[in-house]
Amino acid sequence: MMVILRSRHLLYQTALFFSIVILVVIALRTSTVQDSISRFKANHADTVLGDDEGTPHPKYKPTPSYTPPAITDPFPALATSTPPPIPSYNVPEKDGWKKYGLSVAPPLVIGFTRSWPMLLQAVVSYITAGWPPEQIYVVENTGMQQANARGQLSLQHPWYLGHAALKKLGVHIIQTPVLLTFAQLQNFYLSLSYTHEWPYYFWSHMDVLALGHENGFENLTPRAGEPGYKTLYTLSLEELNRTLATDDRWGLRFFAYDHLTLQNPRAIEDINGWDTLIPYYMTDCDTYTRLHMRNWSQVDANCGVITDTSVALDNLLALYRDPKVTPKFTDPNPPPPKEDEERTKQRREVLTDPVEYWKSLIRVADSMFHYKHGDRGRNTWQAGQHGGQGEPFYYDGAGFTEALEVLTEAGKEVYRRKWGHRDCDLVKGGGLKFEDQWRVLPDW
Ligand SMILES: *[C@@H]1O[C@H](CO)[C@@H](O)[C@H](O)[C@H]1NC(C)=O
Ligand SMILES: *[C@@H]1O[C@H](CO)[C@@H](O)[C@H](O)[C@H]1NC(C)=O
Repeated sequence: MMVILRSRHLLYQTALFFSIVILVVIALRTSTVQDSISRFKANHADTVLGDDEGTPHPKYKPTPSYTPPAITDPFPALATSTPPPIPSYNVPEKDGWKKYGLSVAPPLVIGFTRSWPMLLQAVVSYITAGWPPEQIYVVENTGMQQANARGQLSLQHPWYLGHAALKKLGVHIIQTPVLLTFAQLQNFYLSLSYTHEWPYYFWSHMDVLALGHENGFENLTPRAGEPGYKTLYTLSLEELNRTLATDDRWGLRFFAYDHLTLQNPRAIEDINGWDTLIPYYMTDCDTYTRLHMRNWSQVDANCGVITDTSVALDNLLALYRDPKVTPKFTDPNPPPPKEDEERTKQRREVLTDPVEYWKSLIRVADSMFHYKHGDRGRNTWQAGQHGGQGEPFYYDGAGFTEALEVLTEAGKEVYRRKWGHRDCDLVKGGGLKFEDQWRVLPDW
């Protein structure tokens, strides 16, 4: 009996033991499955549509408390008519460049990614300063494929480019096949020099306002209208001619810092192009220093007043010196700069005199420069267009700006690793030479 009881007890205990083991195994397996489910969810957070607690809710950034007003077309007249004549004293002589023994009419290349009013201002300012429109090439680098060419984007779309308006102005439009970074765009210019057989080209930024020395400039030109007056274009041709005649290792010529640059494609070719792994800032340090290391000359020259701006004139007819138009700009992020507006208003009565008109343009350009570099923020213009949602190739404007900052930082890190030096002074500060790229350790 005892034996039976014992054995039954044993049997009972054994059964209990195995039940516990099975329960533990089940529990362990369940937790393993649950672990792996949560691991999967963590890894695929954006693809899991729901869980026990319901649908996940993304956290949105706060809605901006202020949205700048919609931008306005700074040259509405272009939609209905051809552009007016440019100031008579700036009209270029037909085929004037041929006098300089040049083989090719000097092209001016202006790259564009976003902020149409700024680009239109830059192009119109070069034309009204005497640059022949057929020698201007706007490079559409928007990533918008054919959307702009087909007129599918609205003015408020950040990547809007008015093909029809540019054609009316008589300039060329070249499209990059895909969105390029700054360094890639520069290499694209080099490729254009092969396609078009350019032995030289000028390139400028899309956010400048160019004006000739219409008030005269010592040792360069008398005033506009006086005998011997030289336009911005004429002075650029003279510099090109002088450069080609006197310097067989010319790399580039800088006008007004680098707001306008005369580039020798042979020099860029010699240094193997711009480094596309340094896509934005510091890539100029990298390129210009490598040109210097290879003995390509870089000299400052002067052809006019080329101002770096962040806003466009309210009405670009001011650049045609339309006496009915007062040169002024409106702050895209109000409050408006009252002082400047008042100053330009006070000048309204004198605007029939060409040099006075030019002076008022210079004053406005100057306040635009201070606006850009003052506390209003350097690149506020990049956030000026807020529409275009739902249109082809729409991309969030603020997101684009933020992404560029990330790429810029990455490029700076590439630069530091490439040269083992953090600043722009690679030769003086780092003692580096052309062959040292990627072969040195950090010097800090
Ligand atoms: C071009 O440069 C050469 C050499 O400096 C000079 O002799 C010539 O007069 C220049 N041509 C023009 C049209 O200025
Ligand atoms: C650059 O000029 C220096 C000094 O004249 C010379 O030693 C060097 O070989 C030159 N380098 C090139 C690439 O021409």
